[in-house]
Amino acid sequence: MAPTKLIVVVGATGNQGGSVVDVFLSAPGWRVRALTRNTSSAKAQALAARGAEVVAADLDVPSTLEPAFRGANAIFLVSDFWGLYGDPANKDKPKPGQALNVWAAEHEVQQLKGAIDAIAKVATLERFVYSSLSNATKWSNGKYTHVYHFDSKAIAEDYAREIYPELWAKTSIYQAGFFLSNFVLNPILQPVKGEDGVARFIGNIDVNVKFPFVAAEEDSGHFVKALVDEPAGKNLIGYREWLTHRELAAVFTQATGIAAEVIQLPNGKSKVEEPPELKVELDDNFAYWNEFGYEGRADPTIVHPRDLATLSKLDTVFNYFKKQDWTKVLG
Ligand SMILES: NC(=O)c1ccc[n+]([C@@H]2O[C@H](COP(=O)([O-])OP(=O)(O)OC[C@H]3O[C@@H](n4cnc5c(N)ncnc54)[C@H](OP(=O)(O)O)[C@@H]3O)[C@@H](O)[C@H]2O)c1
Repeated sequence: MAPTKLIVVVGATGNQGGSVVDVFLSAPGWRVRALTRNTSSAKAQALAARGAEVVAADLDVPSTLEPAFRGANAIFLVSDFWGLYGDPANKDKPKPGQALNVWAAEHEVQQLKGAIDAIAKVATLERFVYSSLSNATKWSNGKYTHVYHFDSKAIAEDYAREIYPELWAKTSIYQAGFFLSNFVLNPILQPVKGEDGVARFIGNIDVNVKFPFVAAEEDSGHFVKALVDEPAGKNLIGYREWLTHRELAAVFTQATGIAAEVIQLPNGKSKVEEPPELKVELDDNFAYWNEFGYEGRADPTIVHPRDLATLSKLDTVFNYFKKQDWTKVLG
């Protein structure tokens, strides 16, 4: 029997990492080391009960990373921009005059570079899968420079590519598409039900532009498994369906029986007005997606799920919408 291989998963208690843990726990020949800052949390304990080795590691404490990555055959790395931005403990960390999201992006880059430095030292490593997003500044030719949570991940990706060619030769990129859970959990993107009973998806997204929709908590592990099994060097935009928001609303209606429409706000009117730094980021974010594509469509290295030879069959957007409790969202 072939010896068991080890995948080490950063963000194991989260959406993407949690799905990676799920898939590898049931993959023959693999064992899973799940990293978390808090090994006694309910999520961490549940992973341990299912057979993962749960190990404490903190991207802010570099000394915890080397032992956590030791012996890995594969590593999945994800960072949490919105966790940094939303954590009240970070409120006073920006430098004078620096916006909180600018600080969060800088800090995310620092965390990722620290993890990449540690991962480059893992002699047993065969595959590194890095959760990235497109470089909005680059692919918009400098037009949209405030999509901090995209650019941060791309900046650290460039660091790995430039500083560690040996590691880079073992690396594939997983760009997670637009999470379907945004419509369930994120007040900025949830549909709103009018008195006429129609659910309205209101925002700045162009209703006719195709987007990569993913159930990150279900699909990520399948993408990562294929990226681990297949040759390195892939830059995958991960999605279960590639739809416009108008098409998405039609699927929503089929799945839920609730009439729906998408409303694109007129130019100059934003969905989010406060806090000001978030408005700046989201205005650029939606405009970048509309004009240059979520994945930076001019990037010639992008591959799609159909380009993976070993990808498992993924579930549908219809089924995702069908199983949600929309009364919690729509009242
Ligand atoms: N929303 C979208 O549509 C979308 C699309 C693509 C990409 N993204 C990106 O997805 C990322 C978040 O990923 P996710 O949704 O999979 O995560 P998540 O569910 O928000 O969970 C965050 C994970 O990060 C871990 N973590 C946070 N800080 C850490 C630290 N200092 N050291 C070690 N682990 C840490 C947490 O672990 P513990 O708490 O257990 O330590 C947790 O497992 C964000 O950066 C976002 O930009 C979002």
